[in-house]
Amino acid sequence: MLGVWQARRHKLAQLVGDSPVLLWSGARQPRNFPANTYPFRASSHFLYFAGLSLENAVLAIEPGGTILFWDEPPPSYALWHGDSPQGEALAACLGAAACYPKSKLKEYPSLNRALTIPVPSVLGEQREILGTVPQLDPRLALAIVECRLTQDEWALQEMRRSAKVTMAAHLAGMEATPRSQTCAQVRGAIEGVIIAHDCTTAYNSIVTTQGQVLHSETYSHPLNPGDLLLVDVGAEVPSGWATDVTRTYPVTGKFSPSQKAIYEIVLQAQLAAIAMIRPGVEYQDVHLQACHVLTEGLVDLGILRGNPADLVAEHIHSAFFPHGVGHLLGLDVHDMEDLGDLAGYAPGRTRSTAPGLKYLRLHRPLQAGMVVTIEPGFYQVPSILSDPLYQPFINWEKLEELRDVQGIRIEDDVLVTPTGGEVLTQALPKTIADLEAVLV
Ligand code: GLY
Ligand code: MN
Ligand code: MN
Repeated sequence: MLGVWQARRHKLAQLVGDSPVLLWSGARQPRNFPANTYPFRASSHFLYFAGLSLENAVLAIEPGGTILFWDEPPPSYALWHGDSPQGEALAACLGAAACYPKSKLKEYPSLNRALTIPVPSVLGEQREILGTVPQLDPRLALAIVECRLTQDEWALQEMRRSAKVTMAAHLAGMEATPRSQTCAQVRGAIEGVIIAHDCTTAYNSIVTTQGQVLHSETYSHPLNPGDLLLVDVGAEVPSGWATDVTRTYPVTGKFSPSQKAIYEIVLQAQLAAIAMIRPGVEYQDVHLQACHVLTEGLVDLGILRGNPADLVAEHIHSAFFPHGVGHLLGLDVHDMEDLGDLAGYAPGRTRSTAPGLKYLRLHRPLQAGMVVTIEPGFYQVPSILSDPLYQPFINWEKLEELRDVQGIRIEDDVLVTPTGGEVLTQALPKTIADLEAVLV
């Protein structure tokens, strides 16, 4: 494994040239008082280059090698938290040349030329050591993007493991649904599997009968006959790699005719988008393909009026599909989003303000080794549907027939291979027949 972290650091050092790179791992955050904290999770940039989620550490990376700055905890630490490794052992574990106390960081040669990334939990410390407010250095950010944009073999092995846990968790949720009374009970069945695999959730789980609330974090709703349950949950393995999967299904186990009709359209949009994935294809075109298939389906059903290509060109699909078709996935569920759009958007590209494109998080040609999500959806969000832009195109009478379809999203994670796409989450039921077979 050591070779993996060393190869990653070597690549980074080559990319940034002659400036040292200082990467902070971050500190625990208190929930309500200092000794009662949220679980620690290192900054993904640190994690990527260190391979270890080590608290309060700084990695100094140079072409000649890496030094770890970290303070061994006081003897009293062991009583509450158990034994802690020695600095030298940690340095060896990371493949660093040495471990020095953090107080030595101020004496680090070329500190004034060091490139770094602000880490919210230790901004004060960064400022104190650097003597200035830490700023995102664009040269470092772009070098990190170049390293993390495509996944190496070790990362893919971890992502496959994360996908496996996620699929087992979703399956447990499906099996529990017909016997559950609330969203919280289904969430418990899902997260129980994730926890039992010694994993955490990669983001706050969405388990809701209000699928039109895109990132709902309410779990108290009852499961009523006729409801669709939208489940967007992903595991994070101990090494930090994430999965991001959504399935939507009826709580009773049987889709109504209207739910079937819309589900099929979203599924066809998702499959058409996945089928486009291969190196060189523009991700925005994958998004537009999903928009087109979705719009065509809605026109065929009589929900939207007009020519599908014209409707997409005018962004009318965003009445029902307001977000982008997906994003990069890696150590972060929206990988490297802490760098703004530097990772998601190719150099020179900026976000469109158009309704159908403004939430597109990825706008680059695909490259082999990238992992992306594909997650089209259909939602009835009153504040969006009331926008004057859409009024001439919506058949309200027809839409009235879709009262039991408030929100559907179908999301899988796809590895871009040299010749196409490999769906890492393929084994999880997704067709209506497969879902109904599990939901008994
Ligand atoms: N789970 C958040 C997303 O799908 O982007
Ligand atoms: Mn996603
Ligand atoms: Mn998701």
